[in-house]
Amino acid sequence: MVQNQASEIPLCSQPYMTAEPQPPPQDHAQNDPALKRRRYLRLSIAMACLIGAGMTGEDWWWRAWGQIKFSVQTGKSSFEHVHGMRFFDYMERNKEAGAVFDQAMSAYTSQTAAQVATAYPFHEAAVVIDVGGGRGTLISIILAHHAQLHGIIYDLPATVEAAKHWLESRGLSSRCEVFGGDFFEAIPKGGDVYILQHVIHDWDDEQATRILRNCHHAMPPGRRLLLVEMVIPPGNKPFLGKFLDLGVLMMESGARERTELEYRDLLSRAGFHVSRIIPLPSPDSVIEAVREP
Ligand SMILES: C[S@@+](CC[C@H](N)C(=O)[O-])C[C@H]1O[C@@H](n2cnc3c(N)ncnc32)[C@H](O)[C@@H]1O
Repeated sequence: MVQNQASEIPLCSQPYMTAEPQPPPQDHAQNDPALKRRRYLRLSIAMACLIGAGMTGEDWWWRAWGQIKFSVQTGKSSFEHVHGMRFFDYMERNKEAGAVFDQAMSAYTSQTAAQVATAYPFHEAAVVIDVGGGRGTLISIILAHHAQLHGIIYDLPATVEAAKHWLESRGLSSRCEVFGGDFFEAIPKGGDVYILQHVIHDWDDEQATRILRNCHHAMPPGRRLLLVEMVIPPGNKPFLGKFLDLGVLMMESGARERTELEYRDLLSRAGFHVSRIIPLPSPDSVIEAVREP
């Protein structure tokens, strides 16, 4: 097992989790060390794509990680401590840094998006809105798998510019609109399904609830919201999300990976109930929540 020596947090991953109401798939890796090792390698490759896409070579990234002890001791963002500005403000103002970050997100998502596209019944929907959809990697792969679907990407104005080019290069401009805006203010109406991948983990409970309430406001009752997140399993099991937990805390004060119970609680406070959780082969799960009246 790989250990983070500073915090004794196990870094290798055990991606399946117990989830109600669906029973977890049988996890053959528990009794098969070779399968376990292969799984760990696969996850390491995905993680390497994430961090290897340029961020580790960036001064702004390393300086913030260098102060991670500050985050662990205070629960506040070492990025803000070092740069005097919140992470996403910095990304908006520094175009080059923003492009490197978007590219890194896209590198991870390109490894895992097909799992989301095939695990969830998107064939039942006509319009999917990707909130905080970055440059559009996830939605373009979902659209590629489901020919009937139309998409909307919603993200900060600077980020959606890159999304337009991405969609054009994949011949998807006619099937996907792009809107720039602030999800703390409002979220576009008109989706059958709303998806937020690695968005809620960037924020503390209060801010996360605000985003979810804005989704609630945009959606009629009965519509479905999907969170794609690394749900922290119970107990002291090794799990990649525990490493990411440090990464998001470094970026934003109070940001955190959450357990199943914490997601259920957060969603219920915003007017949703969790209808199922679908574990993916990657460390992510799809949390499906229904908008209550
Ligand atoms: C961790 S990234 C995830 C990107 C994408 N969903 C993925 O999984 O590849 C979080 C996204 O939230 C966007 N974001 C941050 N603050 C935002 C805001 N106030 N309004 C809209 N989008 C925002 C960022 O620009 C970024 O694309």
